[in-house]
Amino acid sequence: MKSYKIIDHEYDVVVLGAGGSGLRAAVGLSEAGLKTACISKVFPTRSHTSAAQGGISAALGNMGEDDWRWHMYDTVKGADWLGDQDCIEYLCKEAPRAVLELEKYGVPFSRTDDGKIYQRPFGGMTKNYGNEPVQRTCAAADRTGHAILHTLYGQALKHNTEFFIEYFALDLLMKNGECKGLVAWNLNDGTIHRFRSHITIIATGGYGKIYYSATSAHTCTGDGNAMVLRAGLPLQDMEFVQFHPTGIYGHGTLISEGVRGEGGYLVNSKGERFMERYAPKAKDLASRDVVSRSIAVEINEGRGVGKDKDHVHLHLDHLDKNVIEERLPGISESSKLFANVDVTKEPIPVVPTVHYNMGGIPTNYKAEVLTLNGSEKTVPGLMAIGEAACVSVHGANRLGSNSLIDLVVFGRAAAKRASELVKPGQPHEDIPDSETDKCLSRFDKLRNSSGSNSTADLRLSMQKTMQSKCAVFRTEKTLKEGIEQIRKPFEGMENLSVKDKSLIFNTDLVETLEFDNLIRQAITTMDSAYYRKESRGAHAREDYPKRDDEKYMQHTLSWCEGKKTKIDYRPVHRSTLTNDVQYFPPQERVY
Ligand code: FUM
Repeated sequence: MKSYKIIDHEYDVVVLGAGGSGLRAAVGLSEAGLKTACISKVFPTRSHTSAAQGGISAALGNMGEDDWRWHMYDTVKGADWLGDQDCIEYLCKEAPRAVLELEKYGVPFSRTDDGKIYQRPFGGMTKNYGNEPVQRTCAAADRTGHAILHTLYGQALKHNTEFFIEYFALDLLMKNGECKGLVAWNLNDGTIHRFRSHITIIATGGYGKIYYSATSAHTCTGDGNAMVLRAGLPLQDMEFVQFHPTGIYGHGTLISEGVRGEGGYLVNSKGERFMERYAPKAKDLASRDVVSRSIAVEINEGRGVGKDKDHVHLHLDHLDKNVIEERLPGISESSKLFANVDVTKEPIPVVPTVHYNMGGIPTNYKAEVLTLNGSEKTVPGLMAIGEAACVSVHGANRLGSNSLIDLVVFGRAAAKRASELVKPGQPHEDIPDSETDKCLSRFDKLRNSSGSNSTADLRLSMQKTMQSKCAVFRTEKTLKEGIEQIRKPFEGMENLSVKDKSLIFNTDLVETLEFDNLIRQAITTMDSAYYRKESRGAHAREDYPKRDDEKYMQHTLSWCEGKKTKIDYRPVHRSTLTNDVQYFPPQERVY
């Protein structure tokens, strides 16, 4: 495209995204001597990993006996048997090493009296295969993600990763089914950059902003996932959207599960600790899908608190003030700021809020992206990690604190695999200009839209539809209406209006590109949810209340071209990676 100034770059590896997984990969790649670029639309330490609060899971056994196999069992059960057990084995076995590495890098973890990393209880984390709670979640107070992110950024700089900050990625450069790099727009000076790379690693996080109320930052727009869809590749398990039980009512700000880990509990308008009824053993520390559904039932049956009886209360006012001060300073501050609550005296008003996407770009445990056109072949040159990826270790429901560990274990695995595949300084192939032209013509079309629909209105319509039609509980009726309604904002793009035509910090255009990314994921989420006629983990169908292992112990694959989708399935892996552990066959899932 002649009207754009294009600047070319060549790197061994390009990492897209500078959150926990992207930075961990970048550190490993740079350490291995690979010329590495890390591209991010926000300053690295503003990535959404900074919002992760409660901690990072690893069977270190600092607070009593623990075993990575117990962690694996908990993760398999938490995932409601939709996780691939070879990948879960890898995650849980590698977790202790990955956390000790973070400690060595300088993450300021909270400490026990004898100087070890402090570990707190978290939902669904047990010892002896579900028998009793275990303290497995390593914490830096309630700002664990923030501590990890800042430390990893320091390490990446130390190892000479080259950063391209405030660059917005537009599309992948594909040639004969292989990824050869990507194109990005420099928000600061308006130039377009073409990155040639032997491997491109997508680490762009989740797409929580398809919903109206989410703990996710406004930047969580699943940009990498949408680039994969536009490259003609599928996404996996998009219907599995996690609602965190405790977002601040009316704001969506996260209140860490660490609160319940430290002894906090939920009550309804009758003052009942209702979780005792739904999860007699684990109570408030059951898995997130179970707690969120229980809150939704309490509200639906008229036992919510407040004028509209539409939320519940989270108490921590009975806890020792020192515990609150030392281990929960962040949520004390946000409760005051967003709910005007002094947590030492009053309960926090909370409601289930969209928090995490279990679905994403299908990969193997080495972080290589899968094509899944009838096989598990990898896409040469393309990897995905972190929330953008669907390895799948979280299956139908992720356990709290299994996200941060996923970031660093698979960030590290990606760096390891890339350094096996690429030699430093290897020459690059030419990429036809037609690929860049295709990408820029989409950019140009959006930039020059002169219709009458604003991006903000289309986005709001998408978010409201997702919120009402694809919520904690779903039915054939809501999803069918959802399938129809979610296509309306997509069609609205035909008559889109982008008023600002400039190329420098044009937030109107950034939000439009983000919307174009979000809407494709909203459509695949809705369609995938419609076609899964069972209840499993976070996907709760009132019309199909039971799990159906015979038909649906399968991953959903969704391709999306415009508003058209194609849905297919692939079997869950039913074997482990090594003989160190046995496959855990499906069981009834009770807490
Ligand atoms: O509740 C929390 O602190 C969130 C943790 C997580 O999503 O892993």
